[in-house]
Amino acid sequence: MISKDIQKVLISEDQIEERCEELAKEIENDYNAKGEIPIIVGLLKGSVPFMAELIKRFTFACEIDFMSVSSYDGTESIGDVRIDKDMDLSCKGRSVLIVEDIVDTGRTLKEVKKLLLRKGAKDVKVVSLLDKPERRVVDIEAEYTGFPVPNEFVVGYGLDYNQKYRNLPYIGILKPEVYQ
Ligand code: XMP
Ligand code: MG
Repeated sequence: MISKDIQKVLISEDQIEERCEELAKEIENDYNAKGEIPIIVGLLKGSVPFMAELIKRFTFACEIDFMSVSSYDGTESIGDVRIDKDMDLSCKGRSVLIVEDIVDTGRTLKEVKKLLLRKGAKDVKVVSLLDKPERRVVDIEAEYTGFPVPNEFVVGYGLDYNQKYRNLPYIGILKPEVYQ
């Protein structure tokens, strides 16, 4: 039982699903108004459950892709962002919606956005399940955010601690003794 390592459930599965419903509608309205086929790009691996929950609610035409970037080791973000897997599709001239699990310092998103724009993307927006505003060190905000979270290490619904807990169906705070 991995849930014994969870101190507190912050956001329940029902709350996440309800919020995904709202976010999907908002995103759908925006992209319908643009009349374009966007590429929805999930950042592996943390975005996977959230991305699945979102895109199944979209009724507009979209393409999906994934990228894998690393900037994070254990519970601390480290400066540089490395591209481990790039997009398969070309983003040149396209509208791209990045799907992220959490915006923490903001470094990852800033670098990924910069990279996609350099490759010729027409428009890059971000939807993030969580936002930890207290930790921000670079000036970036997701256009669409699920929930703000306090400055605590959270896991579940895609978010991991050393690759574990991604499969929990809720967002929880890890007991400090697990990572101390
Ligand atoms: P930055 O600092 O670049 O980091 O915004 C974004 C990435 O850091 C990871 N991250 C977390 N992962 N619990 C996690 O499981 C957290 O509380 C947390 N804070 C940041 C995450 O991978 C995110 O994509
Ligand atoms: Mg991530």
